[in-house]
Amino acid sequence: MPCNVVVLLSGSGSNLQALIDSNSASDSPARIRAVISNRADAYGLERAKAAGIETAVLSHTGFDGREAFDAALMALIDGFQPDLVVLAGFMRILSGDFVRHYQGRLLNIHPSLLPRYKGLHTHQRALEAGDVEHGCSVHFVTEELDGGPLVVQAVVPVATDDTAQTLAQRVHLQEHQIYPLAVRWFAEGRLRLGGQGALLDGQPLAASGHLIRS
Ligand code: GRF
Repeated sequence: MPCNVVVLLSGSGSNLQALIDSNSASDSPARIRAVISNRADAYGLERAKAAGIETAVLSHTGFDGREAFDAALMALIDGFQPDLVVLAGFMRILSGDFVRHYQGRLLNIHPSLLPRYKGLHTHQRALEAGDVEHGCSVHFVTEELDGGPLVVQAVVPVATDDTAQTLAQRVHLQEHQIYPLAVRWFAEGRLRLGGQGALLDGQPLAASGHLIRS
């Protein structure tokens, strides 16, 4: 039985594309069952359709509050019977009910070396802080925003002439490496969330997750 994956996004979907590309092998353990967006104009939906993946749009604008939207979103997601839900640029803060419902089967990617720079404008903030290293992180989602146990991080050296844009581009390339890796580990049954944090092959991962340096 393949691992059923539902991907949530709001925008371009380059991480979705990386997942699609890494899943194209016939023996891939993961199967992207559906892509759901809260925005009808998200380009990620086109990428999904081009790959023959079912899509759905659930706009948050028609709902009376976060809880109501999240309840409808959960019902939509669960219709696809996911083993794993992947947040790939889904620009919504999720309610506690939502996060608890998918505990241990909800992954996110964030463009910083967490726990540094939770939230937005991570590349600019890393530059302003004078960091010599920046990067990206895949983590299990918990109720703390961008705060769940880390699975894998990729470190990207900061160049003296970097702008937020040039840095973002290099971080993005690393995102496209580490998200498929984490999803594959999960789909193979190697990665799971234990009581104390993320486990790979039954062993606790370091607090930073598995670290990749380019
Ligand atoms: C990525 O930078 C990811 O880290 C963040 O949202 C962005 C999504 O990019 N969570 P894309 O839509 O996958 O290109």
